Amino acid sequence: MIKKGCLDIVREKCENCQDCILGKTRKNVVFSDGNPETAKIVLIGEAPGETEDETGTPFVGRAGRLLNQFLEEAGISRQDDLYIINTVKCRPPENRVPTEVEKTLCERFLTAQIDIMNPKAIIFCGATSLKSFWDDKKVQISKVRGKWFDVTVNGKTYPAMAIFHPSYLLRNHSMEDGAPRRLMQQDLAMIKSEILDKSCDAQPVLV
Ligand code: URA
Repeated sequence: MIKKGCLDIVREKCENCQDCILGKTRKNVVFSDGNPETAKIVLIGEAPGETEDETGTPFVGRAGRLLNQFLEEAGISRQDDLYIINTVKCRPPENRVPTEVEKTLCERFLTAQIDIMNPKAIIFCGATSLKSFWDDKKVQISKVRGKWFDVTVNGKTYPAMAIFHPSYLLRNHSMEDGAPRRLMQQDLAMIKSEILDKSCDAQPVLV
């Protein structure tokens, strides 16, 4: 229960946070989902939507349900293998993309969560979370997804991969070879075999 105890301290601070304007309109702070004691991977989304704001849990709306389907199919347990968080913890009105100021003001919670979790890998789900850690802000998920790269958070370097956001997959139904849904299946299969199925602490080969 060591990680949970540390995370609870951060959660309490986050729940009292009024650093940016999102604090005024949120119903709930959406801090995390998953078991921090068993999760080997931190998955980072963009921001809570309406259902997440209502429930206080990330990825439980339409996009979240689609993500669950892909995870289940890949044999990845949402509750035990993943610690799921967002770049910002409060819902932006009308589900707009969080601003640079909002992301910057929320970063201390995000980096504390990563630090405490000390994951075997970080998965960036969608462009917003990727761009928080990628120098070229014009980076396209379609160009970098499916490949491991290094990300350094508070001086510690982690293997990381970007995957499509499930909202994008809700608008792209094709299951043909090379279509986004097929690429999502491939990426999750790689994450499962190279991170979760490895019993030792070996790192994936970086490209
Ligand atoms: N989209 C996200 O990026 N995060 C959520 O929690 C829900 C939808």
